[in-house]
Amino acid sequence: MTTAPKQGTNLLYALIAQARGYSDTIIMGRGDPDFDTPPHIIEAAKRAMVEHHADYVPPEGLPALRQAIADRVKRVNNIDVDPATEVVVTNGGQEALVLMVLTALGPGDAIIVPEPNYNTYADALKFARAEKISIPSTADTNFRTDPEAVRRAITDKTRALLLVSPNNPTATVIGRADLEALIGIAHERDLIIIADDIYDLFIYDDYQHISPASLPGGKERTLTLNALSKSFAMTGWRLGWIVGPADLMARVRELKAAMTGGTSVISQYAGLAALTGPQEPVKMMADTYTRRRQIVMDALDDMGIKYGMPQGGQFVFADISFTGMDSAELAQKILTDQHVLVYPGSAFDKERGQYIRMTFLQPEDKLREGLERMRVAMKNITG
Ligand SMILES: Cc1ncc(COP(=O)(O)O)c(C=O)c1O
Repeated sequence: MTTAPKQGTNLLYALIAQARGYSDTIIMGRGDPDFDTPPHIIEAAKRAMVEHHADYVPPEGLPALRQAIADRVKRVNNIDVDPATEVVVTNGGQEALVLMVLTALGPGDAIIVPEPNYNTYADALKFARAEKISIPSTADTNFRTDPEAVRRAITDKTRALLLVSPNNPTATVIGRADLEALIGIAHERDLIIIADDIYDLFIYDDYQHISPASLPGGKERTLTLNALSKSFAMTGWRLGWIVGPADLMARVRELKAAMTGGTSVISQYAGLAALTGPQEPVKMMADTYTRRRQIVMDALDDMGIKYGMPQGGQFVFADISFTGMDSAELAQKILTDQHVLVYPGSAFDKERGQYIRMTFLQPEDKLREGLERMRVAMKNITG
């Protein structure tokens, strides 16, 4: 059996490898939607394959797709961008994330990172040789980032502020008042905002997603990431984008050209079909997640496990401190005993060892079974 290393992305890979070894594993940690890519998108990709689009494409992406992205960010996010100079198509959200980090930060620069956060930001910062200034948060405040804590943490080296909303793994959505305050601080201290909107179409109850670039003072300093991975169940297609002000986007384009050139033309045509075709699949997924989120919350309430209110995204970040175990140890135990994979909080941030991340990306019957098995595992642990 694999012995999981204690932290970071490697810890997740070790757990995933172990989970693959069981035939009946229920995955309640990973971020892959369980839906299939909608058929009209697959058809568009097939057409692109036979229509002789084999030549190199511009690094920034096909003009028609950049136009569709500009239309989408206007329609959904209320961000105005010029498709000619302010949009770059990327290999999924992951390449967008690295391009944004390398554009905004160089060696010795610092970025404010509300924690916990999506773990590969830390990986990208390492390669940029930039410093991460963490702003911790807890379940008691629904993992809210206090703008005043951000202000206090800024130093002369700080160049950027990361805002992921809805957040992964905490599922927190940044409210309007906090966002306005954060943009005000970024303006005062001349910071670039790195905004990650990848979960913007999955918002629950009365919460509202607001893109930083849509607010006064936001657009000129914000690079915004998005991707089709989650919204159209296209994680493996690798199609994402960055929008932002032309001066910063010129550097994004240069880096993109140096790193990977254009994004796969097949995926770009698929992306064009996703953005310009029927939007019902997104609505269907969002409605399904709303129901499943309730199932997970009900089960956790029943088990007496506390969590931050999932305001958006696909996660519940639950506090397991009452077990007295570190989350890596607990995740390992739940996996070994009951073949249920949850993600340890310590994989996101070493200070988050008291949390586990649970996703609701399984059909309802599997989700219920996974939760039931988890209840058994917890009972075995707490007696
Ligand atoms: C917050 C966040 N940003 C970016 C990404 C990367 O997106 P992609 O899967 O399109 O590479 C993810 C993936 O889970 C994510 O959760």
